[in-house]
Amino acid sequence: MKVLIINGSPRLKGNCSKLIDEMVNIFEQEGIEVENYQIGAKAFRGCMACNYCYEAHECVFKDDVNQLARIFNDSDGLVVVSPVYYGSANGSLISLLDRLFYSTHFDKRFKVGAAFAVARRAGTTATFDELNKYFTINQMPIASGRYWNNGFGREQGQIEKDEEGMQNARIVARNMVFLMKAIRDARLKYGYPEKEETKYTHFIK
Ligand SMILES: Cc1cc2nc3c(=O)[nH]c(=O)nc-3n(C[C@H](O)[C@H](O)[C@H](O)COP(=O)(O)O)c2cc1C
Repeated sequence: MKVLIINGSPRLKGNCSKLIDEMVNIFEQEGIEVENYQIGAKAFRGCMACNYCYEAHECVFKDDVNQLARIFNDSDGLVVVSPVYYGSANGSLISLLDRLFYSTHFDKRFKVGAAFAVARRAGTTATFDELNKYFTINQMPIASGRYWNNGFGREQGQIEKDEEGMQNARIVARNMVFLMKAIRDARLKYGYPEKEETKYTHFIK
């Protein structure tokens, strides 16, 4: 089983990375393969609604989004971790996620999602909600923890002192592994639920 982790932070050894390390330890203990991707200083432009992806099944911008799409397709779970910037996920991450989710048309149902927001002080719950929306529009179950997944720290590494946040990272990782295994077993036993043809609301023709 495999998990793709997307770290939205530009800081290479920042607080998001520390939190992710805590999750990766659990995934490795549980024998889960991990693909750990960090945005770093790379620039990601936003979706320009050209719909090229509807023909080509990839994004018109030939950057890491198309490689991540292939890894995401092969993964059983997706972890997204963002630093909080002005009460929201950071801009590069949102540009990447918009394009990753919009340009990929493979079945994302039952890939397990988990989101974390990391801040100095505030904006984590709004960011957590923002990130979970990519999962819930795609029939992806969410691995939750014992709080609305957040961690606190300002300077690089300070999050290690947030024992509650670090513990929650471990809890979410364990819950995610459990859900991925349970879904794999249930699919073999029962199959996935029936998939209906997509319908659109009456005012969009
Ligand atoms: C542009 C910018 C905006 C920020 N906005 C917020 C904010 O709204 N709320 C907050 O608590 N921290 C804010 N921070 C602090 C970061 O969220 C915090 O330092 C976090 O630990 C960064 O994670 P990283 O070390 O993984 O990059 C901001 C930092 C930057 C650079």
